[in-house]
Amino acid sequence: MSLLDKLKWRYATKKFDATKKIEANKLEYILDAVQLAPSSVGLQHFRVLVIEDADTRAKLREAAYGQSQITDASQIVVFAAETNLNEDYVKNFINHVAVSRNVERESLADFEAMILGTINARTPEQLLIWAQKQAYIGLGILLTAASEQDVDSCPMEGFDVAKFDEILGLEEKGLTATVIAAIGYRAEDDAFSQLIKVRKPKEELFIHI
Ligand SMILES: Cc1cc2nc3c(=O)[nH]c(=O)nc-3n(C[C@H](O)[C@H](O)[C@H](O)COP(=O)(O)O)c2cc1C
Repeated sequence: MSLLDKLKWRYATKKFDATKKIEANKLEYILDAVQLAPSSVGLQHFRVLVIEDADTRAKLREAAYGQSQITDASQIVVFAAETNLNEDYVKNFINHVAVSRNVERESLADFEAMILGTINARTPEQLLIWAQKQAYIGLGILLTAASEQDVDSCPMEGFDVAKFDEILGLEEKGLTATVIAAIGYRAEDDAFSQLIKVRKPKEELFIHI
């Protein structure tokens, strides 16, 4: 199956088979793909929580308006945006670039100054929105990689952010829950798997100039 076929196969799974777990190698593959998600200037200003713990999931389900995917999927993946995008964060990032590429830190001075300039020109609210956008790219990659591995998923925004942050202790980690995905295997009787996909016609979606 081509990637396009896999994307036609995937759908936002409403009912997962709670008895089925994702194979370890497939889960690793999907998370590897998320690790490779691109981000603005490479900052990766989000973290990804992979949640299996049943007690935690029971609490999260309540905070997600009772949606059953939270407890029945194989794992819940929470994309959490960094709330403390500051000079230290950038310094650590530049250190990491220098080590990864085996270059002198000084050679990255202009790059560092550019990033700091970008950060200092934005309000905390703008910085958070910026970080959240990166988290969504991670989500897109996760959904795509899962479909490639024949793993079902459901992207979810239907949850109380403050409650998620509290349950997962995100505030003290400098994070806030942004978007989540349930991943696992569909229940055989999930009626949503039979629905015809609804998408805008290409002429309404694409503008060729
Ligand atoms: C960012 C985002 C948030 C979503 N939130 C929820 C959600 O909280 N609960 C849910 O059941 N589906 C949720 N969905 C699923 C969408 O309703 C679904 O993707 C859309 O209707 C298109 O259908 P398809 O994904 O099955 O092709 C969300 C999808 C996205 C992309």
